[in-house]
Amino acid sequence: HAAGDPEAGKAKTQLCAGCHGADGNSVNPLWPNLAGQHPKYLEAQLRAFKSGARKDPTMSPMAATVQDGDIPDIAAYFAAQTVKASAVTASEEVLAEGRKIYLGGIAETRTAACAGCHGPRGQGNGPAGFPALAGQKAQYVAKQLKDFRAGTRATDPNGMMRDVAKRMTDAEIAAVAAYIASL
Ligand code: HEM
Ligand code: HEM
Repeated sequence: HAAGDPEAGKAKTQLCAGCHGADGNSVNPLWPNLAGQHPKYLEAQLRAFKSGARKDPTMSPMAATVQDGDIPDIAAYFAAQTVKASAVTASEEVLAEGRKIYLGGIAETRTAACAGCHGPRGQGNGPAGFPALAGQKAQYVAKQLKDFRAGTRATDPNGMMRDVAKRMTDAEIAAVAAYIASL
């Protein structure tokens, strides 16, 4: 379908700005940055919140207010913004463990390398539906991985992320989330 118009989208994101930031960089560790995210991925997630396929007590009621016809413009606006790196408080040791998992996976539990789908620098792959992760808030990333692991987020095509997350411990999740925020 037609690509959205970022200029038209700006006026439709006033409600969103309160949580995700006017430029798509959020100020709360549990609210995701939307800046620079692939527009098709943003559209798919908004539709998932609207349909109830993805649920969150804060975000679901917000998505309910969005008109279907406005979704491409809203996604185009946030996609056109620039993401800023998130603050990282983890130790060098934890960041190194996270980097190892991100780039190489975990051999013992046959956990796939994140970089294989999300790219070596966290840039994602828009056409494939793999979201950008670079600079994303560590707490938000960890929550998503735990939601995939628990099956409470099941928006991933073919269960790709559920298969990855179910192999990971809380400590591995915390380490990879810290590394992602630092990208
Ligand atoms: C998640 C868009 C308003 C809080 C998301 C995501 C999108 C989005 C696309 C998924 C991001 C991803 O998967 O990386 C929007 C739009 C809004 C809006 C277009 C305006 C119509 C708000 C507001 C709040 C909020 C006002 C806070 C009151 C959240 C939270 C999540 C989220 C907490 C993460 C939910 C989870 O943990 O799964 N939003 N948002 N959003 N949004 Fe919004
Ligand atoms: C989504 C992390 C490996 C495919 C996500 C999200 C996170 C994440 C945090 C949610 C992004 C957001 O809400 O903004 C990771 C980590 C990995 C990993 C830490 C390694 C341990 C993979 C692999 C694949 C993959 C190997 C491909 C086989 C996807 C897809 C989505 C996604 C398709 C979007 C799911 C949806 O549409 O809801 N990943 N990922 N990921 N990831 Fe991964």
